Amino acid sequence: MNILVIGSGGREHAIVRVLSSSKSATKIFCSPGNPGIATLAECVSINNNNFNDVSEFCLSNDISLVVVGPEQPIANGIADAVREKQINVFAPSLYASQLEASKAFAKNFMQRYNIPTAKYAVFDSTTEHQAEEYVITMQLPIVIKADGLAAGKGVVITENMDEAIATLKEFFNGAFGEASKKVVIEEFMQGEEASIFAICDGSNYITLSPAQDHKRIGDGDTGKNTGGMGAYTPVPIVTDAILQKVRIEIIEPTLAGMQAEGHPYIGCLYVGLMIDNGTPRVVEFNVRFGDPETQAVLSAFNGDFAHLLYTAAIGQLDKTAVVNSNIAACCVILASDGYPDKYKTDFEITGELNSEHCYTYHSGTKLANGKLLTAGGRVLGVTAVADTIEDAIALAYKQANGISFDNKYCRSDIGQKSKKTH
Ligand code: AMP
Ligand code: GLY
Repeated sequence: MNILVIGSGGREHAIVRVLSSSKSATKIFCSPGNPGIATLAECVSINNNNFNDVSEFCLSNDISLVVVGPEQPIANGIADAVREKQINVFAPSLYASQLEASKAFAKNFMQRYNIPTAKYAVFDSTTEHQAEEYVITMQLPIVIKADGLAAGKGVVITENMDEAIATLKEFFNGAFGEASKKVVIEEFMQGEEASIFAICDGSNYITLSPAQDHKRIGDGDTGKNTGGMGAYTPVPIVTDAILQKVRIEIIEPTLAGMQAEGHPYIGCLYVGLMIDNGTPRVVEFNVRFGDPETQAVLSAFNGDFAHLLYTAAIGQLDKTAVVNSNIAACCVILASDGYPDKYKTDFEITGELNSEHCYTYHSGTKLANGKLLTAGGRVLGVTAVADTIEDAIALAYKQANGISFDNKYCRSDIGQKSKKTH
């Protein structure tokens, strides 16, 4: 079958790579793609925000499956628009996308179905005064979140009441435009984070190997939040018992709830967890694959990924498309120094990107005059696979050390938390 992948980052590069090695895939297109993706698929420039153009492309290129990487087109309704034209798409509906696009929707949904998460309250500009009164009654630290999509920046965790109140004012004043005109205030959860991807067909699902992201810019989880500085899989803290709780207490009620509300969930349900004392609770839902967890999880994937996503998209998930493996993977992000604030680009990238058990996904690169240049905050995701996480970490760093560009920055401790529980 022919497949169209929407997106341009490291996550989409990993999706294209595993699709291109799937038996059931014939030709893969990616819109718009990137220089790394171009080595595996035909990159095309469709206007991804014009769903008529996307559907037209699918119909004229015999596309049997559309796979959507980023959240924005999903939150804009790409899945409904494409599905209406009888094209199979692996992405959730506009209604279901609210699980990510509105934190208030997600929290209210979890409350409706008794899904474990932090205690919370929602306020908008008409209840701004009550928001301040509510915050004063809370224990520190306090978590304040903009309701809408804010590129991962709309969450403030503070130990200081004055800062909490100032944050509320900033949010209500439109720090993130419409996204922060509604605010969720929630209890701080202690614990270790992990991400689980469930591949869902509306009623059935299968989980992929659990992963852990590294959201902060600095070693030891210090400094600003980023889009993610590295990831590894599997995660020792996600024991079989915890995974079982996640299935029964979180994923199954979510799928049943979406079905009960008339919007069966088709696509990847990303469950962001906080695990404390053997108890998993939801930090956030995303309605897509995570970046950079996908680079690690799909590098360790064994099976026919194209068939898995196709059968999910048509509502007949074939779980035999996944072959169990005990492969570990570690992805180290090479970034431009200065990220997540200001940084420079256009530096030449040199060195070996790939070797036998290591593959480098492109996040922010471009080609100019035959040279590969940096073109973003997160530049490359160097991803190694091995029998153990320790070996995967060592191999990823060895490869990363051999790749050079001016202002290269990476964390030096990706994967180290996997050892804490050994
Ligand atoms: P979110 O965008 O909701 O995933 O939040 C971004 C990050 O903030 C999460 O990955 C957590 O590290 C942290 N975070 C969010 N909500 C909470 C919470 N209630 N308790 C503790 N940490 C949180
Ligand atoms: N890795 C977190 C995310 O994709 O949102």
